[in-house]
Amino acid sequence: MEVHSHYPLKQFNTFGFDVHAGLFAAVGTTDELLAVLSDKRYCTLPLLILGGGSNSVFCDDFDGLVVHPQMTGIEKQAEDAEFVYLRVGAGVVWDDFVSYAVQRNWGGAENLSLIPGRVGATPVQNIGAYGVEAKSIIHQAECILIDTGERRVFSNAECAFGYRDSVFKRAWKNKTVVTHVVFRLRKEPVLQTHYGHVADELKNYPELSLQTMRQAIMAIRRRKLPDPAETGNAGSFFKNPVVPNETAMRIAAADPHLATYPVDGSSVKLPAGRLIELAGWKGRRVGNVGVHPQQALVLVHYGGATGHDIIALATAIQQSVYDKFGVHLEREVNVILNPPNN
Ligand code: EPU
Repeated sequence: MEVHSHYPLKQFNTFGFDVHAGLFAAVGTTDELLAVLSDKRYCTLPLLILGGGSNSVFCDDFDGLVVHPQMTGIEKQAEDAEFVYLRVGAGVVWDDFVSYAVQRNWGGAENLSLIPGRVGATPVQNIGAYGVEAKSIIHQAECILIDTGERRVFSNAECAFGYRDSVFKRAWKNKTVVTHVVFRLRKEPVLQTHYGHVADELKNYPELSLQTMRQAIMAIRRRKLPDPAETGNAGSFFKNPVVPNETAMRIAAADPHLATYPVDGSSVKLPAGRLIELAGWKGRRVGNVGVHPQQALVLVHYGGATGHDIIALATAIQQSVYDKFGVHLEREVNVILNPPNN
């Protein structure tokens, strides 16, 4: 394993920002990871674990060590009458895993088709789309504890999953590296078709199966979300805010098209994309960054800008949504500043 200095990260962040890592190590095995973490030359430096970089905004170079997990492999660990348990390396491209599962007719991951990024990020972020979250298929996450090099397995319950949230963003933030994830998939798939756009899209397909479900999800995503290979972006930039019922009712009264999703008796989740659209930002371009014309929750980089430009745009959007609706939009992406902030 080689540790590179002044390493370009443009290919390692889906916004495509032209930044560098002070040091960069791609680790293909748990032993390589342990070797780099315990190396006296590096262990006092700021550390950043970077998978696909699909949820990161690099504002500056990272003056520290970037570790890029590349553990590969999908192996069947166990099987019972209902489920198969698949142990997957953190470096596997997420959608390659989804495709692998769908081909074998194992259900649970299909609604998460085409989400950019690597498997190692799925328990951290509890990725979700079209009515399904990764927490419904994650059996356990295998990790290395950064301070001690100890191996530790987090069960699904120990991951403490929430909406785009987990223990790896809270008590264990920056203290673990996910090396493998064990997924539990159904041998007799149960399709989740209730999400509005999905039900509509499925009408275009002659039959209902894991394959057509994946095709439908991919078609919706391709229509609404920019491909990071063509236009830099990190998916949804903000979380959908959860607000008190009264706030939601006030906003809904002025907008008959506002979708609302009850969370519990007293609060409601609102679509941030709609609020941003109503605040007049959809499709707007400011210099070399902007708001995607088909999905206002996605900020885009047209080339030649920096992470600071994206943050300036995001701040202006937050301010105007707050001024108009009294709702604070929380960022969903990770922001990497210099000096390192994590
Ligand atoms: N909407 C608008 N205008 C917009 C965007 C959305 O009015 O510009 C409205 C839609 O009409 C719809 C509602 O907002 O009624 C929800 O929109 P959509 O289905 O596109 O989903 P979202 O809430 O904007 C979330 C996730 C996405 C995920 C989709 C599909 C978050 C932060 N984002 O977006 O995840 O793909 O649902 O399930 O929860 C990501 O996390 O990076 C991501 C892309």
